[in-house]
Amino acid sequence: MSITSEEELRGLRAVGRIVGRALRELAKLVRPGITTGEIDVAAAGILLREGARSAPALVYGFPGAICISLNDEIVHGVPGARVIREGDLVKLDLTIERDGFMADAAITVCVPPVSDDARRLVRCTERAFRKALGVARAGRRVNEIGRAVEDEVRRSGFSVVKELCGHGIGRTIHEPPTVPNFFDAEMDQRLTEGLVITIEPLIAVGSGQEFTARDGWTVKTRDRSLAAHFEHTMVITRDAPILLTAA
Ligand code: MF3
Ligand code: CO
Ligand code: CO
Repeated sequence: MSITSEEELRGLRAVGRIVGRALRELAKLVRPGITTGEIDVAAAGILLREGARSAPALVYGFPGAICISLNDEIVHGVPGARVIREGDLVKLDLTIERDGFMADAAITVCVPPVSDDARRLVRCTERAFRKALGVARAGRRVNEIGRAVEDEVRRSGFSVVKELCGHGIGRTIHEPPTVPNFFDAEMDQRLTEGLVITIEPLIAVGSGQEFTARDGWTVKTRDRSLAAHFEHTMVITRDAPILLTAA
């Protein structure tokens, strides 16, 4: 959506803040021995407390309050009996709805001790996000965001998962425009003032090829290499974007 009133900005700020704070709270639960289902129960409790709902459940019938993806799982992991272990890379991706507004953010949490590759991958993903943020302003094109991410990822020797992109958001989860993590000359839509989008680099150690697992939800790397994800929802302005999902 594109924001046209103070009221819309207020609604989005409110839902965004809940996402940011919830992720910070949930990240503290990530430790060896906890199941992804237990983290999901905690997420559902936070949503209830905040008068919010799981947007993936609402929009797509996703079976959970939060997407939790481990190691070679890139996104859309379904919470359940899986036990988190030392060395795991845990991606928490939370999208919620309140009062008709939606916001989406994701973090990657390392469960020590993790491999050097894992740590470098997470740092690269955060760097790629910050570089992309630097070009996200009114008048720039969505593929410039893609170029910023891709440049940073190439420099580190990792790969972008090209099938998975950022997106417009606000009234539902996935709205136009698509916000790629690579340069595509044809994706030349310009960012405009008030536009609400996510920037979400999805990066793999290996080739970046992916497939959907037999559960119909979990997207994994084909070569089983580690993947990391970092995401915020923001409002485009003539200046730096307004981060809605910062805690
Ligand atoms: N949070 C995801 C995103 O960043 C959307 C998840 S919707 C699901 O785009 F239903 F696929 F889980
Ligand atoms: Co997300
Ligand atoms: Co998203």
